[in-house]
Amino acid sequence: MWQIIGAGAIGCLWAANLQRIGQQVHLITRKPCSERTLHYLDLENSQHQFNVSSSTGLLNDLDPLLVCVKATQVKKVIQKHLISIKPQQVIILMHNGMGCAEQVQALLPDNPIICATTANASLLLAPLNIKQTGRGVTYLGPFNPAACLQHKLAESLNSALDDTHWCENINHKLWLKLLINIAINPLTAIYQINNGQLLQAKFQKQIKEVIRDSLQIADAEKIPFVEQELLNTINRVIQQTAQNYSSMNRDIFYQRITENEYIGGFLLKKASLYKIKIPAVESLYKKIKQLESHYA
Ligand code: PAF
Repeated sequence: MWQIIGAGAIGCLWAANLQRIGQQVHLITRKPCSERTLHYLDLENSQHQFNVSSSTGLLNDLDPLLVCVKATQVKKVIQKHLISIKPQQVIILMHNGMGCAEQVQALLPDNPIICATTANASLLLAPLNIKQTGRGVTYLGPFNPAACLQHKLAESLNSALDDTHWCENINHKLWLKLLINIAINPLTAIYQINNGQLLQAKFQKQIKEVIRDSLQIADAEKIPFVEQELLNTINRVIQQTAQNYSSMNRDIFYQRITENEYIGGFLLKKASLYKIKIPAVESLYKKIKQLESHYA
């Protein structure tokens, strides 16, 4: 049995694909959910329906917890369920941005904590109703020594969505996703454009500046990247997701708090620690903060 915290686009995508291969899934939602059927339209345009159980509290068992809420919600949901989480229970964190695993470790010092990053994409059309919009690689890896022996979990998840791998050096994969997010998300959110628009020369120039800034921090953290290879990877992601609106674009559009603190904010905290100036990142971070401050 898998307990998935968060019935958003990614939580439902894993729930649907785990059910598809016969695994039991239980969804933990913020508010009581009256919907009992999970509707899933896959990339081949096949519509699937699964009966799904849900509750607002955790089940009383030791099954791994797959946490698929946004970075802004991770600490809050762990605090909410703290007394129900057993010390040996594995926690898998899957979201954009960085900095949450440290927060979870402070609350749950004995639990195996796994960090995950996925390039699978889906759209929440209505509660428990999703459309898969992209297929991509997923990496899981240990955040703390207690999680080092949990590679079997990646095998189980790989049966549900293939191209899922265990990766001992998950930090590098998380940084890669962070760098992709810092290049794509703020610009698409500020200018309210789809990812493909970032191929325009004026945005390419800004992406280069932002990546140059960010790589100074990666260097200080001893996370190696080759600038041109990274820019090529970012442009490949932009091309592959050209029609999509980034998660931060949608958050600003729907006036929701974005993952800015865990993307640009994370880089700025590191920058102040190392006394490095990253003006291009800082400017995007401030613009997003300003947009969020205008919400009613
Ligand atoms: O946050 C997102 O939307 C995605 O991580 C990405 C890769 C930027 C594609 O839109």
